Amino acid sequence: MEERETCACTAQAPVDANRRRIFRIAALGLAAGVGLHGRSALAIEAVPEELRPVVGDRLVEEDAEGEPVPLKLADLRVGKPLLAFPFDVASKKVRSETRMNKVVLLRLPEAELDNETRAVAAGGVLAFSGVCTHMGCDIKTWMVSEKVFACFCHGSKFRPLDRGSVAGGPAPRPLPVLPIKLEGEQLVIAGPFTAPPGFTPQA
Ligand code: FES
Repeated sequence: MEERETCACTAQAPVDANRRRIFRIAALGLAAGVGLHGRSALAIEAVPEELRPVVGDRLVEEDAEGEPVPLKLADLRVGKPLLAFPFDVASKKVRSETRMNKVVLLRLPEAELDNETRAVAAGGVLAFSGVCTHMGCDIKTWMVSEKVFACFCHGSKFRPLDRGSVAGGPAPRPLPVLPIKLEGEQLVIAGPFTAPPGFTPQA
């Protein structure tokens, strides 16, 4: 059967590009004053509290042109991941485009969600940190045959239908879940990440 993978990008980044991205990520962690030993090199704790996602924030598409527009349920196609950032309704601004705020959204048929997963989803849309817990690459590819998110930097896989649990590869922990809900047709953040987004460097 034909393998169908969908990606929130137009093309897979080549390995060299991913390596360069990892170096940039490490540099960001250092710039944030976070040590490389004993703590995450890139972690939500490095983001000022006021710039982190807040309950009630909307979500806006990462690469949308023009004024950011809060995403609605109808903007998500089943099986097509989309990268997004939290959006502060009061100031009408993206809260912060730090990668720690990057969210990968995935809409699945609601019937596939168990009750625990449905409780953090909005009309079948699930939200996770878009940062791989291994070394911080973007999570943006959905492998429909395995029902996993894939990170092509080193081959980690995560199960969105099981609270982001690790399905394979070197990732040491699940993808943090960002609980969301619907208000009218809009996707709204309903709680903090279930664990700190980011990664810890391997020894
Ligand atoms: S950064 Fe994702 S598998 Fe290594």
